[in-house]
Amino acid sequence: MHVGILTGGGDCPGLNAVIRAVTLALINEAGARVTGIHRGFLGLLTRESRRLDPDAVVGILSQGGTILGTHNRCDPFHYFGANGADASGQAMAYARELGLDALVVIGGDGTMAIAHGFHKLGLPVVGVPKTIDNDLCHTDRSFGFDSAVAVVAEALDRLETTARSHGRVMIAETMGRYAGWIALEGGMAGAADIILLPEQPYQLEAVAQRCREREGREGHTLICIAEGAKPVGGSLTVAATIADSPDPLRLGGVGALLQHQLQPLIQSEIRATLLGHVQRGGSPTPFDRVLATRFGWHAAQLVRRGDFGRMVTLSGSEIASVRIEDVANKNRPVPDDHSLLLAARGLGISLGT
Ligand code: F6P
Repeated sequence: MHVGILTGGGDCPGLNAVIRAVTLALINEAGARVTGIHRGFLGLLTRESRRLDPDAVVGILSQGGTILGTHNRCDPFHYFGANGADASGQAMAYARELGLDALVVIGGDGTMAIAHGFHKLGLPVVGVPKTIDNDLCHTDRSFGFDSAVAVVAEALDRLETTARSHGRVMIAETMGRYAGWIALEGGMAGAADIILLPEQPYQLEAVAQRCREREGREGHTLICIAEGAKPVGGSLTVAATIADSPDPLRLGGVGALLQHQLQPLIQSEIRATLLGHVQRGGSPTPFDRVLATRFGWHAAQLVRRGDFGRMVTLSGSEIASVRIEDVANKNRPVPDDHSLLLAARGLGISLGT
C-alpha cells in the first residue's frame, strides 16, 4: 500500500504531530510506503514530494508549522497558476504516477472541499480536521485550537498587569475568521471583562458603559475581541482581499477600530493589541499533541480499512468520523445557547449586547 499525505490551507500547531502519527502507524501496522506531498495540493501540480520514513518524523511531534509546507491559495480545480482553470487532471496524473492508493489530507473546510473533489475523481481520501479557528462542522475540536487559546490566555494575563498599572482599557484582537471560538475560550481563560464575538454583534454604548463602570471600581478593563466581530448594523473589518484565494477576505483591525470608536466615550486611555499569527505559530500544547496523534492514528486505521471519503472527528472524548462532503466549505459558529456563553453572562462578563 502506498499512501500520500499533505497539509493544506493555513498552518497550525499540531500538523507535524499528525504527519508523524499517520506515517508511523501506516509503516508499523500496515507495512505501507508513505509519501509526503509538498506545499499542500500545489505539490500535486508541481510534482514535489518525498518519502516519509520513521527517521523523517523523528523529533517533529513538538514542532510548530508543517515539515511538508502548505499553501492556502492552491485549489487544483481552480488553479491560480492557470488563470483559475481546472488542473485537477494534472494532479490526478501525478498521484497515479506515484502509485498512490490513498491520500490523507490535513486541513480545514476549504481543504476538505478540494479533498472531496479528488475523492469524486477516484482518488481515495481520508481527512483530518485542522484549524486554530475550531470552526469545522461535526467535530467538537480541531487540533491547533487549544494552542491558539493558550496564546490568547497568556497575552491577556500580560495585558492585565499593564492595564492595572496604568488604569487603562486593553483590547486584544484574536483570530478565528467568522467564528468566535478563540475569543470566547481565550477570553474566558484570560479573565477578560468584555468578550466580543462575530455571532453576537456588539452595542458600542454597552461596551462603553461597562468600561465606565470599571473606571469607577477596578480602574482597568480587558477586552477580548474576535477579528470577525462587528457592531450592531456594522460590517466586518477587512484587512486585505486576496483575489485568487478560495477564501479571499483577510480580517483584521477591528480592535483598533473599537479603540477609535470607544475613546471619546470613556476617560481611560485605550491600547489595542493585534495578536495575529503569533496564535498560529510555535509548539502545540500537550492537548493538541495528543489530539493530533489520536487523529493521525485513526486516519491511518480508516486507510487500512478502506473507509474512504471520511474525516476523523472528536465527539465528546471519542474519535469518530463523518463524510468529508458533510464538512466541506461549511463553518460552525458559536451557538447562542452554548454553555460557555451562558457561563460568561452568569459571571457578569459583558458580551457587548
Ligand atoms: O483560518 C486560520 C486563520 O488563522 C484565521 O484565523 C485567519 O483569519 C486567517 O487564517 C489568516 O490567514 P492568512 O495566514 O492567510 O493571513
